[in-house]
Amino acid sequence: MPSRSPLVRTQVVRVTKKREYTGDYPDKTLYIPGPTEVREDVVEAMCEPMFGHRMDRMTDLYTTVVEDTKEFLGTDNDLIILTGSGTEFMESSILNLVDENVLVTTCGSFSERQANVAERLGKDVDTLEYEWGRAVKPEDVRARLEGSDTEYDAVTCVMNESSTGVRNPIEEIGDVVVDYPDTYFVVDAVSALGGDYVDIDAHGIDVIFTSVQKAFAMPPGLAVCVVSDDAYEREVEKDSASWYGGFQRSLDYYDRKGQTHSTPAIPVMLAYRTQMKHMLEEGHEARDQRHREMAEYTREWARDHFGVFPEAGYESQTVSCIENTRGIDVAGTIDRVSEEYDMVFSNGYGSALGGKTFRIGHMGEHDVESIRALTDAIEDVAGL
Ligand SMILES: Cc1ncc(COP(=O)(O)O)c(C=O)c1O
Repeated sequence: MPSRSPLVRTQVVRVTKKREYTGDYPDKTLYIPGPTEVREDVVEAMCEPMFGHRMDRMTDLYTTVVEDTKEFLGTDNDLIILTGSGTEFMESSILNLVDENVLVTTCGSFSERQANVAERLGKDVDTLEYEWGRAVKPEDVRARLEGSDTEYDAVTCVMNESSTGVRNPIEEIGDVVVDYPDTYFVVDAVSALGGDYVDIDAHGIDVIFTSVQKAFAMPPGLAVCVVSDDAYEREVEKDSASWYGGFQRSLDYYDRKGQTHSTPAIPVMLAYRTQMKHMLEEGHEARDQRHREMAEYTREWARDHFGVFPEAGYESQTVSCIENTRGIDVAGTIDRVSEEYDMVFSNGYGSALGGKTFRIGHMGEHDVESIRALTDAIEDVAGL
């Protein structure tokens, strides 16, 4: 048996100790870029006696959530709801579509994660890199595809770079990639889908995925992926596809049985059913409009008191990244707003943007009024 290298063991500094979960925590209203607030009836929907994932009842549940989500998103493409988080589809999209070469557009932490994932899967990764805060430009994607000798199996782009608050123009980028029929277009729409309208079928988007704890406003535990016929067929031709996140396995299982290929997080799917009915009732476009109003309100507030970090014209509709132009103590303000108002918002992302920026997640079930409650609290605590 090969033993673990002693170098690896000694390099790891083990600092984590058990901290008993007491169950005694104050409720906090979430304004972070996910998870976000979940309606009470959606939480309650999870409290049902358990049933089996091969029972007819499961077919009723899974076919309902799949077809309702397609209706909400207005797509004729196939759709998978898988237990896991969005990162699952970052990985499986690459395995399912890419033999060798992938072009990853990067403009922040999550798009850089996509490049890292593809590298770890052994793919040849080229990046089209932008400074954090800048957006990916369709004309640069075209120039790279035109000017390169490499035939890319896929181009990837993040719709909403949650680390910087940038909304990339994925529709226009999709219109560029369509001109390269052997190149598939993969969109990470985690933190955008459900809060920012996109016409999936109109822009050659082969794969678009999200996590349900973001703008879908559900408890975490499921990831949603919309797959074009071309992407499905592409995977069928390959022999190196993902097992768990394989498009074919999930979609064929749906066609044959109306269920998932392995045991899903049934309680979260029950919550999903309830929340998707609410989303259908509101409608994709009305939900988009409500998110636009929250984003506009937050940006205006940010301009009055601070600055807006992302490049002008590319600001996210679900996560505002605010530049700390006044040099407030961001971490201290977050702590005090949490203690005094039971509201939680986020520091800037990682060491690069922490303290220099902070982020407000205005997604899911929030509205302008609830966002104003947070900005009032920040004004009070920071003495604005
Ligand atoms: C844009 C983006 N992509 C991917 C992820 C990863 O999602 P998950 O944690 O659900 O795997 C996140 C999480 O915040 C995200 O914001």
